[in-house]
Amino acid sequence: MSRALLTAGASVHGLDIDWGGSRSVGVPDGLAAVHADVRDMAFVRRILNETGADTIIHLAAQTLVGPAVADPVETFRHNIEGTWSVLEACRGAAAVRRVVVASSDKAYGDAGGRPYREEMALRAVHPYDASKAAADILAQTYAHTYRLPVAISRCGNLYGGGDLNWSRIVPGTIRSVLVGQRPVIRSDGSLVRDYLHVRDATEGVLRLAEAVGRRDDLRGAAFNLSGGSRLSVLQIVRRILDLMRSPLEPEILDTARFEIVEQRVSSARARRELSWRPEVRLSDGLEETIDWYRIHPEVIR
Ligand SMILES: NC(=O)c1ccc[n+]([C@@H]2O[C@H](COP(=O)([O-])OP(=O)(O)OC[C@H]3O[C@@H](n4cnc5c(N)ncnc54)[C@H](O)[C@@H]3O)[C@@H](O)[C@H]2O)c1
Repeated sequence: MSRALLTAGASVHGLDIDWGGSRSVGVPDGLAAVHADVRDMAFVRRILNETGADTIIHLAAQTLVGPAVADPVETFRHNIEGTWSVLEACRGAAAVRRVVVASSDKAYGDAGGRPYREEMALRAVHPYDASKAAADILAQTYAHTYRLPVAISRCGNLYGGGDLNWSRIVPGTIRSVLVGQRPVIRSDGSLVRDYLHVRDATEGVLRLAEAVGRRDDLRGAAFNLSGGSRLSVLQIVRRILDLMRSPLEPEILDTARFEIVEQRVSSARARRELSWRPEVRLSDGLEETIDWYRIHPEVIR
């Protein structure tokens, strides 16, 4: 996201609670890294006013399902309080023209494998999923009650270089191969997800930001973004092992609980209204992702 914005000539401030260390690897030159907590509303207000930022992409969140199950309150604090803090700060900032809040396909909950469409009710029940559904509804509230120019993205499973969340299946599998260990699958391997390369997601979110700044009727609107590459966890692990020419066999723990079984995301609305479509084929995206970790061995711990 930062790279795309800088390439487009924007001045970019990247606010994160955890800057430094490996988090800074691969961060593009020119990004102003701001070490802060989005829940600190006074700080967010101050930085919006000092920078005169006109575009806010709210991505900060506790994004992992396992830690969310272990400590729901902390996840709710980061994801729900963090979102109301950003929205409230945006409401009072004169320069703000467009805001996107990252929700998730997980906000829909279990639809029994039916494709998620934006008009479907959000029926999330597990902690991470519910935190994203709550953030999503808060964004709708600020749009409908306060006319804040905010739209909502609901992406499928993202993958791409720079992801340091090793409990996620794509970076976790690549890391295992690079350190010579069997990749671990915490579920039984059958969970189906819709994978989307981070560059495609970025392009979709930026088109959405641009559109909500231009069109009043998109305030509070949600857009699904998906790559259309639906694979089970076991299938994606095998794809990565093949691409890395690894003879390792995955270890299936079957310990994951509170996960949606099958996710299918329709991005028809984004295709129609944002003229967006995913450009990165899964095999190309995975190759590129593997290369990223190969050229950044310092992040592999
Ligand atoms: N990765 C996916 O598959 C996926 C899919 C759909 C939606 N999303 C959403 O997209 C957004 C970005 O996801 P990601 O995969 O880049 O996650 P990530 O975990 O890589 O990045 C999230 C960042 O937020 C920061 N953060 C957490 N709490 C914070 C706080 N209180 N203040 C400031 N920074 C804080 C973390 O330090 C981290 O760097 C999230 O909102 C996530 O819920 C992700």
